[in-house]
Amino acid sequence: MELKTALNQRKSVRSYTGEPVREEQLARILTAAYEAPIGMGKYDSLHLTIITNKELLDAIDRNAAEFFGRPETHPLYGASMLIVVSSSLEGNVGSANTAAVIQNMSLAAVEEGLGSCYIYGATAAMAENRELLVKLKLPEGFFPTGSILLGETDEPYAAREIPAEHRFAQNRID
Ligand SMILES: Cc1cc2nc3c(=O)[nH]c(=O)nc-3n(C[C@H](O)[C@H](O)[C@H](O)COP(=O)(O)O)c2cc1C
Repeated sequence: MELKTALNQRKSVRSYTGEPVREEQLARILTAAYEAPIGMGKYDSLHLTIITNKELLDAIDRNAAEFFGRPETHPLYGASMLIVVSSSLEGNVGSANTAAVIQNMSLAAVEEGLGSCYIYGATAAMAENRELLVKLKLPEGFFPTGSILLGETDEPYAAREIPAEHRFAQNRID
């Protein structure tokens, strides 16, 4: 797939069949994660937790729904895999690294025909819940900074018309 096609067709997918991500698909998506730019090359400041355990996914989903005061919702949308990105860096660089890693994985997901969605809300909710955080078994000094859902979906990827309001405000200084 051409890069410009993946860039155009990538979208946040919020409906999943629940079918598992295949190991070879995951391997290619992780390779894309490792290809991300990382501030000052501090690769050891990042950690990935790949979660397919249904009980834990349900607990993260329920925790987020309750945290945001909407117990009837499913903030993980029934996806079969959540990859939690954790950083040991406080501040903007840790967040920027996380976003770069997640964006690379989301573009790789397009090529795999898998749905993906950047998940900050449920990640922040999880970071506030000690009991849940322990279940991630993170190394000392790491905290979750963002996550990505991955999974089979019935939603097709197709050419997207990018709306005019997506054009960020800008100025130019020549
Ligand atoms: C930093 C960040 C955090 C996000 N967190 C969530 C989230 O918690 N839940 C969710 O459903 N979508 C989340 N999104 C997806 C955005 O809502 C989505 O990218 C945006 O509406 C544009 O739609 P598109 O991705 O389909 O182009 C997040 C995106 C980014 C970049």
